[in-house]
Amino acid sequence: MAAPTLTPFPLSCIAALTILALLSSLTIPCCAASDADPSSSPYLEFVKASCAYTTYPDVCYETLSSYAATIQTSPTELAKEALSVSLNSAQLTSDVVTNLSKMSDLTKRESGAVNDCMEMISDSADELRQSLVAMRDLQGPEFKAQMNNIQTWVSAALTDDDTCMDGFNAGKGSDKGKVKGIIRSNVMRVAQLTSNALALISRLSE
Ligand SMILES: *[C@@H]1O[C@H](CO)[C@@H](O)[C@H](O)[C@H]1NC(C)=O
Repeated sequence: MAAPTLTPFPLSCIAALTILALLSSLTIPCCAASDADPSSSPYLEFVKASCAYTTYPDVCYETLSSYAATIQTSPTELAKEALSVSLNSAQLTSDVVTNLSKMSDLTKRESGAVNDCMEMISDSADELRQSLVAMRDLQGPEFKAQMNNIQTWVSAALTDDDTCMDGFNAGKGSDKGKVKGIIRSNVMRVAQLTSNALALISRLSE
């Protein structure tokens, strides 16, 4: 082997090393940025860890992770956001049920169940709204009494959701599957969100 034929190799090695060096210098901004990756943020970790105490942790994380920047690591903020998400869902469900109640082809039984449900969901939204107002003013000597009120109202909201669904379960085969299905899926969602909010609120008074 003649020496000159070896020369291209070291040269290409140097070129390769230079490229590697350039690439690794380029990867520094990449990796620094990945520290700010939302999936590894401590605020998201807080949401996830707190959601583990709820009955529906996946629903909890799915609905609250987008508020991580507001919640940071505050259990009170987390409980407030959970309540607010639950209220929004109750309001939407209330609209859905109101719309269903206007359908002309409901049986008498069905119509009765839809109307009862409409009232229950509307009550539950009122209770959640009242709780959210009280949550915004949770300080001083009234803390314990206010916490008790909030827990009572949120529990009542949950009972209203259950009562609404019971009205349909009792109907069994006689109810049109469609109306029952729409109400069930919406109300179950509200009930899960409300149950989670209650769990997060209860932790505040522990
Ligand atoms: C209820 O019905 C109204 C009028 O048809 C419609 O604009 C609205 O989007 C409906 N709301 C829901 C939640 O389905």
